[in-house]
Amino acid sequence: MNPADWIDVTPESFKYSLDHFVIPPHYTEDLESILIPHGIIMDRIERLAKLIVDDSDGPLVVCCVLKGGHQFFADLVNCIKKLNTGLGHSVPLHLDFIKVKSYTNDQSTGEVRVSLSETELKDIKGKNLLIVEDIIDTGRTMVKLLSKLREFDPKSVRVASLLLKKTPLSNGYIPDYVGFAVPDSFVVGYALDYNEYFRDLDHICVISDHGKKAYAA
Ligand code: HPA
Ligand code: MG
Repeated sequence: MNPADWIDVTPESFKYSLDHFVIPPHYTEDLESILIPHGIIMDRIERLAKLIVDDSDGPLVVCCVLKGGHQFFADLVNCIKKLNTGLGHSVPLHLDFIKVKSYTNDQSTGEVRVSLSETELKDIKGKNLLIVEDIIDTGRTMVKLLSKLREFDPKSVRVASLLLKKTPLSNGYIPDYVGFAVPDSFVVGYALDYNEYFRDLDHICVISDHGKKAYAA
């Protein structure tokens, strides 16, 4: 995927007011703005699913990076399943889950914890993997995860990330599929969290200073 094909929501003009859409009242003070409304996320995932199916020639092991990736994973897999019932070629799917944690408050802890058992990792030998992640921020989590997965000899590894943050802290890692390029702000919603809060919000939003204080670890 070419950077020209990402949807760039970094310009200021892409911010929607909280009044433009419906948000849960328990979060009104905790959000600055809506960055990507839920409907646009869903429409974009339909397109990413089509690109992934067109690029695949054989079974895919789709690996969800928990917890933040679960919503994107579920909606992406649903879109691929729908494409599989159409007239084009179909892609058999196996679904897998990896748990990774590296953030406290809005800071990367520098330590990336990956939980996948050795027996589960042995199953990926010779398979085509598609890693499904919510956001690439510094890129450290993904680089560490990829090097761990490659030790177990998959045939190929591709990464789909719904969001790619434009940050000077980036290590330069760019995923194969990107839904949206987002600004260097802490974003929440659509399963992305701040200390486990905001996963119950459908739109992708920028957290407010009030929200950062209210839910600080
Ligand atoms: N939001 C939520 N989780 C994250 C972010 C973010 O901006 N960056 C890295 N993990
Ligand atoms: Mg994540």
